Formats: sequence, structure tokens, C-alpha cells
Amino acid sequence: MTSGAPVARALLPRSAVIDERGRLLIDGCDVDQLARTFGTPLYVYSETELRARCREYRDAFGVDAVSYAGKAFLCVEMARLVAEEGMHLDVATGGELHVALRAGFPAARVVFHGNNKSDDELRGALEAGVGRIVADSFDELDRIEALVGDGARAPRVLIRVTPGVEAHTHEYIATGADDSKFGFTVANGTAREAAVRVAKSDAMTFVGFHCHIGSQILVLESFARAAAVVTELAGEVARDTGAPIDEINLGGGLGVPYTADELDAPTIAEFGREVRANFTDACATFGLDPLPALTVEAGRSIAGPAGITLYTVGTIKEIPGVRTYVAVDGGMSDNPRPATYGAEYEAAIPARIGARRPLVATVAGKHCEQGDLLVRDAHLPADVAVGDVLITPVTGAYGYSMASNYNLVPRPAVVFVRDGEPRVVVRRETLDDLVARDRLESEGD
Ligand SMILES: Cc1ncc(COP(=O)(O)O)c(C=O)c1O
Repeated sequence: MTSGAPVARALLPRSAVIDERGRLLIDGCDVDQLARTFGTPLYVYSETELRARCREYRDAFGVDAVSYAGKAFLCVEMARLVAEEGMHLDVATGGELHVALRAGFPAARVVFHGNNKSDDELRGALEAGVGRIVADSFDELDRIEALVGDGARAPRVLIRVTPGVEAHTHEYIATGADDSKFGFTVANGTAREAAVRVAKSDAMTFVGFHCHIGSQILVLESFARAAAVVTELAGEVARDTGAPIDEINLGGGLGVPYTADELDAPTIAEFGREVRANFTDACATFGLDPLPALTVEAGRSIAGPAGITLYTVGTIKEIPGVRTYVAVDGGMSDNPRPATYGAEYEAAIPARIGARRPLVATVAGKHCEQGDLLVRDAHLPADVAVGDVLITPVTGAYGYSMASNYNLVPRPAVVFVRDGEPRVVVRRETLDDLVARDRLESEGD
């Protein structure tokens, strides 16, 4: 990062504007004012950025080729937006499926994931008529067959495989290597065995293969290697069984820039071009004809850059010769990524968004953990003060969805902004919400 420079525009939603008073507007809404109106911490999403990113994916891969991965950020209104944008939707649990169905999301466009789907989750998915199930284990295939034996509708199934590809990312979010809890291993033959079983089963329709090698991937070469492994396997299974391979899903995982040092990250369009070209080559190499549909499922690269989190500065502690802590009213409960895997962000003050940021300080949360640090070496204006609203850009993915009530801090509200209009799409949790599931009367009452 250029020391002391204002936050890079490319880290803000594309609707970001600096007004004549130096204040940040997103989708026509004054960000500092949003904090004053709705309180902090607060998740704010630019609706135009969310929709633009869905469209970029559709342009890059084609209509019907892209699912939004709900795990990145899902609520009823987000599911509606994804439906309006004509996308498919990945869910990874019965809970995510419930939210999708409550939003009226068409079940036929839902893709159901999970390495340990319960009977209830599978039953619910089959009853709802989800479009595809991504099967992850032989135990799951047993369960599907038993449910269909009991009268459930036979699902369309993709086999999730681990292709033995190491993605360049944090080990907690790398999923494609052989040592993974997900899917069937290609190298030891279980992926092939599972595919042959599904292709021959009367309880399932075999659709093809799925693989997801990890998340926050900035080096596209890993996708090419995964495509080669999966298409080779698909070619073998097609020859062995005569079953057509309708679809190969190469997962999600495109990374996004979180800091000014990462601004050369590949764009959605580049990702599309590269992955499509590699896929077509690999299909030709391994004799896959007709060409299966190439599908992907993107989470972070749709939701991440569209969201910012707003906090209020509560205390500033300067330890001369050591560091300055700027403490805000949220932290690891609304964004666990820095504490969990050392994720880096930037910070800025929206009321003075164009100001230089010469002060290097640590933005700390309010939780009872020394590790509750949101931005270890944040650049901030020298005059940052108690009461300032502070934002962390690019926090639209895996913040709200991974939020907790640690230290019994109520979870923030979610606001969508568009055309100068903010609307609360998830209300802030209240203190009473925190005891809503507790037994409140004492024993014997
Ligand atoms: C199976 C699967 N698909 C898609 C995604 C979305 O990945 P990303 O948010 O990096 O695009 C994930 C995330 O971990 C995943 O596990």
C-alpha cells in the first residue's frame, strides 16, 4: 500500500462517490449517516454492486451456468435478489435451504451441498424438489437410496470429487487436496466407484461431477489443473458406463482484493475466459463429446466487494513506542476472518474518505480476546477520534454468514442501499433475542 494514501477506490463498491464535503456515498447514501440512522455495527450492501457482479458472472459463463454460493452471505432478501438475477443457488445445509425456500427461491434452481447431510436435510431437499444434489459420501448415497425406496422423488446427482489439487490459499479454505473432509477422492478410485454406482442406480439420475478446490484463490492455474483431473475422470466414467456427462461444476473460489496490495487479482471476466478455455481444452484431450455444461458457483466474488461494515470508534489507546489501538463496537463476532485465518482488511473513515491516512494503528474489536483484532496495521487519518464512524471495505462475504454471539454481543443489522434509499433487510438482534431460547423461569416454577 502507498503509505498514507486514502483508501483505494477499487476496494469500494463501484457506486462509491466522494461528495463535495469529502464524505463517502454508496448507491447515493451517505455512509456516515447510515451509521447514525441505523446504529453500528452495521453491514451495508450496495445492491447495484451485488447485481452487477451476478451479471458479470452470467456474461462470463452463460445463463444457467452460475450458482451463487449462499454460504458467503444469505438472507431472504439476498435469495430474492439472486432469483431476480436469474442465478442458481447453492445451499450447504437445511438452514440455508429453508431461507431460500422462504424467499420463494425456485427449488429447481437450488444445488444442495454438504459433506454430512442428515436424513432430515435430504428428505427436505427431495420433498422441495431441489434441482441437484451434490453427493459427498457413500453414506449419503445409501441415505438417498433409502429415502427414494420409501417413496421420495429420485434426485439428480452430481458426484463431488477431490481432485488432489493444492490451491494457493489458507489451509482452512483449501478443499481440493486428497486430505480433505469433502467428497470422493479421485486418486484412489472412490470417485469413479461412486459415479458408476450413481449412474447404475434407479434411485438417482447421474448428472456429472463437482469439485471445489478452495476459496480466495488468486492464481487461476489451480483451476486448470482441477479441470484436467475432473474431465479425465468424466471421460473414463462415460466410457465405462455409457452414461452421458451433462455437467461439470468447477466450484467457486475466485478471490477478491481485500487490500491495496491485491488490486491485480483476476476479474470475473478473466476468470471466465481462462476457466472456459482450459475446460474446453481438457474436454477435447479426454474425449468428452458432447461437451458437458461447465458450471461454477461463486460466493465471495459476488458478495464480498459489495459489502462494507460500519463501526463506531469507542476508545483509542496509544502505547508510546508500541502501537495505537483504535477500538470499535464490533469485532470477531461480526467478522471472524481476521482472528480465524489472519485475513487482512483496510479501514477508512467515511466522513473524511479522501483524507490521507498517515496513522498506522490496530483496529481492535470489543471482545474479551487479545486476538480480536479486525485490522492489525490499519492506515487511518491522523485525527481519528472517539465517535468517528469507521468502515472496513470488502466485508460482504463470510462476515454476516459466519457471525456469532460471542460475548453475547447482538448481531448487526443488514442494510441494502440503492438509488439513495437504504432498507433494512435483516433487523439488528436485540438483547431479548439473546435470551429468546433460554428457559427463563427457575426450576419448579
Ligand atoms: C462447495 C463450495 N462451493 C462454492 C463455494 C464458494 O466459494 P467462494 O465464496 O470462494 O466463491 C464454497 C466455499 O467454500 C464451497 O465450499
